[in-house]
Amino acid sequence: QLFFHASLPLNGKKALVSAGPTHEAIDPVRFIGNHSSGKMGYAIASALQSLGASVTLVSGPTQLPTPPNVDRYDVTSAQEMLTACSTYFETSDIIVMSAAVADYTPIEIASQKIKKKDTHLEIALKKTTDILATLGAKKTAKQTLIGFALETENELPYAQDKLKRKNLDYIVLNSMQDKGAGFAGDTNKVTIIDRKGEIQQFELKSKKEVAEDIATLIVAHQATINS
Ligand code: CTP
Ligand code: CA
Repeated sequence: QLFFHASLPLNGKKALVSAGPTHEAIDPVRFIGNHSSGKMGYAIASALQSLGASVTLVSGPTQLPTPPNVDRYDVTSAQEMLTACSTYFETSDIIVMSAAVADYTPIEIASQKIKKKDTHLEIALKKTTDILATLGAKKTAKQTLIGFALETENELPYAQDKLKRKNLDYIVLNSMQDKGAGFAGDTNKVTIIDRKGEIQQFELKSKKEVAEDIATLIVAHQATINS
């Protein structure tokens, strides 16, 4: 048992994975959210754990069970997710940010339920901090940092721009063009771009298989760092 465990490729490595949506409170009973299920991030946490890594999963609100032997830290808002990810970042060798973080959050949370009045309601929003870009700015040479990109047009140029801007080793582009890919389902179709601009297109697969493909890249990247 011990011998087997010591032979896993990510043994002794620490991983941080973010997953799921964030919920941004409007008033005590309402929030702004999105349709992320968290399935992709949970599958990545599970794949990295299976390869021997100690995994911390920073999770927004989801309906999913915690993968076996993964440390889960629950958060609600983008701000809470930033704080949690910043805490675990420095000691992590592998960082995968797959959460669907809100880009904007209400400037103020109404202290009481907002009452129905006029025909229109405006809620003023402010930009959230980009967690991935914040971590990218602090990344060291021994860390593997991976982000996701969700695009509906100009997919490759937009994803490449995010990879550069956020200082990532890889970006996983979710293709929304394909049926069977995306937020809620159990399958995904991804394209992965690395720092050199090399592009790998993958077939439509289960999220578990996509997670294994991503984990394989991570193992290879960590191996080049440590050689
Ligand atoms: N992300 C993040 N913090 C945010 C927004 C996004 O860490 N406040 C991360 C996501 O977890 C993902 C990556 O940034 O790994 C890309 O998210 P995406 O929404 O595709 O890109 P944005 O940079 O937010 O740009 P836009 O929504 O305008 O395309
Ligand atoms: Ca966004």
